[in-house]
Amino acid sequence: MGILIRNGTLVCPEGPVQADLRVDGGKITAIGKDLPVESCQVVEAAGKLVFPGFIDTHTHFEMNKGLVNETADGWATGTLAALAGGTTTVLDFSEPQRGASLASALDTWHRRADGRASCNYGFHMTIKDWNPAIRAELPSMTRAGITSYKIYFAYDNLRLSDGDAYQVVQAVAAEGGIVGCHCENGDLVSAGIAAQKAAGRMGPEAHPLSRPAVVEAEAVNRWLAIGEMAGCPVNIVHLSTQRGLEAAQAARARGQKLYVETCPQYLVMEDSKYLLPGFEGAKYVFSPPLRKQEDQDALWAALESGDIDTIGTDHCSFNYKGVKELGREDFSKIPNGIPGVEHRPVLVYTAGVAAGKITAHAMMQLLAAQPAKLFGMYPQKGALQVGSDADITILDPNQSGVITAAGQHQNVDYTPYEGFQTACTVDTVLLNGELAVSQGEVLQTYRGKYVSRGSCAFWR
Ligand code: URP
Ligand code: ZN
Ligand code: ZN
Repeated sequence: MGILIRNGTLVCPEGPVQADLRVDGGKITAIGKDLPVESCQVVEAAGKLVFPGFIDTHTHFEMNKGLVNETADGWATGTLAALAGGTTTVLDFSEPQRGASLASALDTWHRRADGRASCNYGFHMTIKDWNPAIRAELPSMTRAGITSYKIYFAYDNLRLSDGDAYQVVQAVAAEGGIVGCHCENGDLVSAGIAAQKAAGRMGPEAHPLSRPAVVEAEAVNRWLAIGEMAGCPVNIVHLSTQRGLEAAQAARARGQKLYVETCPQYLVMEDSKYLLPGFEGAKYVFSPPLRKQEDQDALWAALESGDIDTIGTDHCSFNYKGVKELGREDFSKIPNGIPGVEHRPVLVYTAGVAAGKITAHAMMQLLAAQPAKLFGMYPQKGALQVGSDADITILDPNQSGVITAAGQHQNVDYTPYEGFQTACTVDTVLLNGELAVSQGEVLQTYRGKYVSRGSCAFWR
């Protein structure tokens, strides 16, 4: 039996249209006015916004396996929360052990995700070591559907040298893929942490002071220099500062091909959170940290102008009780990361579309179409058009909501967005052509499929 979504505002590639949309066999089979009901199950969408299923290109489920500070969300809970929040595909960061092969990480991530995922999923691959053996694995990664990679300039156990980063960028580009970089200068972060401790600042308030905007801006500039010299497109993940953004805008103005991701946390919160009484500030310890109002304003302006390409969550959830608390005496021991995979669509809709900062069409580009293009899934994913996969999210702008830890599906004991009033709710989600969420209720679990991705499309 098909599904007919009736009378909605479809946020299509060419813009919003009032129309019906029909789904059969997991695909969108018709879009038009007054489509016949025939034998279809009808979903009434009058007054609602119908989007291609949202894609979160930045999650960390089941990270730090085996350690005390393992993430709170594994694949079962993380992908269920994603689905409940209107995200139909996640791209998670698989990460080899130091000295281990990329294939070993891919096996581990498949073992964790396959059969447990309630939304569709793919993997980026993290490169921690760069040597001939790892380079030789890239073609097999491409065949396995992995066309995007992440490297780090921060974290001593993760980061690559500039020379290795240059080689990674070229080798990945030869495969039709792209590399994203965690742009913070690791040596300056270490110096910043030491300086805060020497000044006797040991609480969460020291976290943003230890990694100020210049730490990101330097790394963005360096990453862009590497991309320019390599002659290959590069991606900047979780951009948080106006200074970093200006570096990207300047490079684009010179003709460089680059892509920029930011995250909801940098769009709706500021660094005053670190001054909350008690140890509350620990709930906001992630990297890069929260910034100033002027950074937030610059990021919104760039979302409106099209200078930022994607919004991912960087979902990396650690419980407050017993885990964030590991850093009670020393902020540098607070596990870095926050939850968010469930709430990105309603946050971006509320703070962006309902607030008049971006259009619903821009939201569709940022959360669906551009992620799908950049990461080799378009137009199978990310588009409401005949022939595309029937991953569809319907938001109801006539219903408001409130984000609370008590009401979330994320398996973590807090949300950084506690009390946030949303200007819409997630009404309906179709996953692979099946009704997966109806009137906000999750109807099915573990039906997510692995998305084997193709070459990245560099549309700009
Ligand atoms: O604090 C963060 N962002 N943790 C997750 C890992 C990363 O750097 O993306
Ligand atoms: Zn990162
Ligand atoms: Zn991340």
